[in-house]
Amino acid sequence: MTKTVALLVGSLRQQSLNRKLAKALETLAEGRLTFTELNIGVLPHYNDELWDSPPASVLELKETLKQADGVLVVTPEYNRTYPGVIKNALDWGTRPWGDNSWSGKPAAVTGTSPGAIGAAMAQGHLKNDLLHVGAIVMSQPEAYIQWKDDAYAEDGSVTDEKTAEFLKGFVNALADWIEKHG
Ligand code: FNR
Repeated sequence: MTKTVALLVGSLRQQSLNRKLAKALETLAEGRLTFTELNIGVLPHYNDELWDSPPASVLELKETLKQADGVLVVTPEYNRTYPGVIKNALDWGTRPWGDNSWSGKPAAVTGTSPGAIGAAMAQGHLKNDLLHVGAIVMSQPEAYIQWKDDAYAEDGSVTDEKTAEFLKGFVNALADWIEKHG
């Protein structure tokens, strides 16, 4: 049966390479996983006082996470770490005290950049922080993707055979991880 994945994309750009990568991964999962993207760009900056009358975006984030079997974060690297928009979502998810939405969720991280290290430092920092908030983080396989335009078609499908094989291995490992720990 298909498992549901709450997807966080660390870029707010319409033409985000990371969102294209996420779409490619969902396609390569061939129905084992269905992604629901969290709208993290509309979350206000974290402020404890907002819990007096919680914003709809925050409640939606927490409800989507509650329903999801697992979590996937696809992140670019900004100045050698992951973007603040993801950290803000992590913080909202951990509150209110005693209702941590990340706790016990099977989770994986990948990301892409045109740069040679494929968002590796961002992914390392993010895995560390996901562990801290209580997610069950998949450590292997790692997927540091250096973006190559000629490996993907306009519709997000992967045209390069080796890239497709590698990404398929990653997304199947995530599906196995969710089945094991979900
Ligand atoms: C970047 N970029 C970048 N790339 C990288 O490999 N290491 C880095 O530290 C940074 N730093 C950085 C900072 C800021 C503020 C921006 C805007 C960009 C490049 C970045 O990875 C590239 O623009 C990606 O294409 C962004 O991902 P999306 O938006 O295409 O998903």
